[in-house]
Amino acid sequence: MTEKDTVMEVNDLHTYFFNRRGVTKAVDGVSFSIHEGETLGIVGESGCGKTMTALSLLRLIPKPAARIVSGEILLDGQDLVSLSDSEMREVRGRKISMILQDPQTSLNPVFTIGNQLIEALGARGKRGRKEMVAQAMEGLRNVKVAAPERRLEDYPHQMSGGMKQRVIGAIAVSASPKIIIADEPTTALDVTIQLQYLRLLKEIQAETGLAIIFITHDFGIVARMCDRVAVMYAGRIVEQADVRDLFNKPHHPYTQALMDSVPKMDRTDRLRAIDGQPPPLWDLPEGCRFASRCSNVKDLCRNEYPNTSLLDNNHSVACWMTQTEWNN
Ligand SMILES: Nc1ncnc2c1ncn2[C@@H]1O[C@H](COP(=O)(O)OP(=O)(O)OP(=O)(O)O)[C@@H](O)[C@H]1O
Ligand code: SF4
Ligand SMILES: [Mg+2]
Repeated sequence: MTEKDTVMEVNDLHTYFFNRRGVTKAVDGVSFSIHEGETLGIVGESGCGKTMTALSLLRLIPKPAARIVSGEILLDGQDLVSLSDSEMREVRGRKISMILQDPQTSLNPVFTIGNQLIEALGARGKRGRKEMVAQAMEGLRNVKVAAPERRLEDYPHQMSGGMKQRVIGAIAVSASPKIIIADEPTTALDVTIQLQYLRLLKEIQAETGLAIIFITHDFGIVARMCDRVAVMYAGRIVEQADVRDLFNKPHHPYTQALMDSVPKMDRTDRLRAIDGQPPPLWDLPEGCRFASRCSNVKDLCRNEYPNTSLLDNNHSVACWMTQTEWNN
């Protein structure tokens, strides 16, 4: 991959909540980059900061409780953290878009599909209605909706779940964004709907070459969908690598524990629960955040957070075991 292909680069991003409990470090020093046509998976247990990372990229974090405290989000060379709210509205939808898996929550039941598509298009440019109808039809055709001219008059309840997802896909890509973020809901959906959704994302990517950030609990889906993967634990990325490298040789004990539930790449198990709990994000330990659950823990781990070391093939790990100090 050359530098030219980089679509987004996130550097040392910190997003904190400030409330009565004190400071909750939901995203605490996250860095990654994503390239054209690439799918980056972000995986980790519930509450580790995946959604807050995604919402930070879109600058849609809950206000005023949460704030991006520091870091950079470079998209096309522009730092999204420094944009004003109105500048950011221009970027959202146009350059970076989000697609939800659950079609029920994304379409407005009282408007026709055509109106919702046209609104998505209309909000982003001043064109005549006729032109926008033609574009809406083209959008539906692109996501393989048959007879789009008839579909424009339909209401969401007249469509199947899979069809609604395609419409949402059409809306999400209507402005040809560079990146789409797909955040899997915590509640498990119907398997058929999920497979349709995954297929749709892949089709959209094959057509458009856009980058996808795919957020999931499910390592089986990571294996099937992603090129690279970032494993998050307690607000930080603890390991990041190409999917094949990560599956072949996971270095971080947390990744290894997650992997134990997926011995083969073609299996789609949910993550097996790992003994113990992550530390609360408002009361984090000094040292490694996985220490209380790690069978390899040493004193060093409890005292100091391990730096991230870069191994071959752009594989990075934050664990003392991969560093020379471990053997001292
Ligand atoms: N509205 C909020 N107010 C205060 N803290 C919050 C709020 N939303 C999230 N958090 C904090 O941010 C942390 C990260 O939440 P986030 O939603 O990013 O987790 P997640 O990894 O997406 O989990 P899941 O897999 O369950 O969706 C949570 O553990 C919680 O401590
Ligand atoms: S740094 Fe220590 S405690 Fe943390 S994951 Fe590595 S071995 Fe385990
Ligand atoms: Mg989430």
